[in-house]
Amino acid sequence: MAGTLGAVALGAEDGAALVPLMATPAVVMAPRSDGMEVVWAVSRLCRGWVEYREQGVVRKFAADEFGMVPQGEKILRVRVSGLKPGAKGELRAVVESCDAAKQREEGPWKPVTTLDPAAPATRFVVWNDTHEHHDTIRKLHEVTPSADFLLWNGDTCNDWHQEAWLVPTLLHPAKQDVTAGRPLLLTWGNHDVRGKWAFKVREMMATPSGRPFCAFRSGPVAVISLHTGEDKPDDHPSFGGRVAFESLRREQAEWLAQVTRAPGICDAPYRIVFCHIPLRWTVEAPETPYASGGYDAFARSSRAVWHDALAAWGAQVVISGHTHEDAWIPSNEKFPYAQLVSGGPKFNTARWIEGTADADGLKLVMRDLTGGVVHEVKLPRV
Ligand SMILES: [Fe+2]
Repeated sequence: MAGTLGAVALGAEDGAALVPLMATPAVVMAPRSDGMEVVWAVSRLCRGWVEYREQGVVRKFAADEFGMVPQGEKILRVRVSGLKPGAKGELRAVVESCDAAKQREEGPWKPVTTLDPAAPATRFVVWNDTHEHHDTIRKLHEVTPSADFLLWNGDTCNDWHQEAWLVPTLLHPAKQDVTAGRPLLLTWGNHDVRGKWAFKVREMMATPSGRPFCAFRSGPVAVISLHTGEDKPDDHPSFGGRVAFESLRREQAEWLAQVTRAPGICDAPYRIVFCHIPLRWTVEAPETPYASGGYDAFARSSRAVWHDALAAWGAQVVISGHTHEDAWIPSNEKFPYAQLVSGGPKFNTARWIEGTADADGLKLVMRDLTGGVVHEVKLPRV
């Protein structure tokens, strides 16, 4: 009855084989200093909750914002809150079917840690542009250590042409439990917003703020995560009238002007931006020929409205994907922030980044899947 996910099924009184309720692992995402959000897929209508265990004490999170026990027939989401910064515990998902069978399953306990803005050090890891390449994802999962957070820097998919592709790609990529020991934060890539089912990504990818952009502290590092949208204007015929990123870019520009002055963000020793499409690229043509099949290698229209706030804040480095070609572009007089771009989806071009920061500096190490170091950068305190 346990299926492939290690869940324990209870309540099959008639002895009949029941389809497992849990269709994916419980995915720990949207890390915050007071908790996180847990999202998983189910096979039919059921109720669900999260049990959190710390130092032998178990707390149950079983209420949504409208006073209901979380329930659904495809996706369950549970917000865990009220924890202390840097709390270390374990959690598991529990589900019970809303039918006469009263089938019940308990997922395995998973280690979790909340973000700690006051910690002297932090470690994070970054993936990008996995594009459903299962061999790459399996290897990334194998070689990537536990961390305070896993930043999946966009392009999880190859466009959402079928609704059925969303759950396995986002909540059970290459059938791996990718958030064991590292809570997930997604930054949206241009392929994540393509296809007629792209509007459903938000139903299963939680973010700390409930929006596709956010700012937070992890130890000495201030992180700003942004949504660069598409790589062509909103009215490009290939988008079918489905996207509205011009207004989202402007809204993020206004938000940036405020959040970069917020305590904890404005005074952080280290300052990083994550966004899928890089804000700088090695070769920057003055215009992109959109009408003849061209697309932005760098986020031209985002940079135009975000640059001033990021420069004034003292952003040290922007970490991106998109080009499927790794690059390190140092800061210069015009651009006070450096640009680190990671690799592509194929096994030989895939890269992952480990970031560590403490009193000595911020270190970014990009590796290929064989462990070879591709880029290594050390940045001083601001
Ligand atoms: Fe990509």
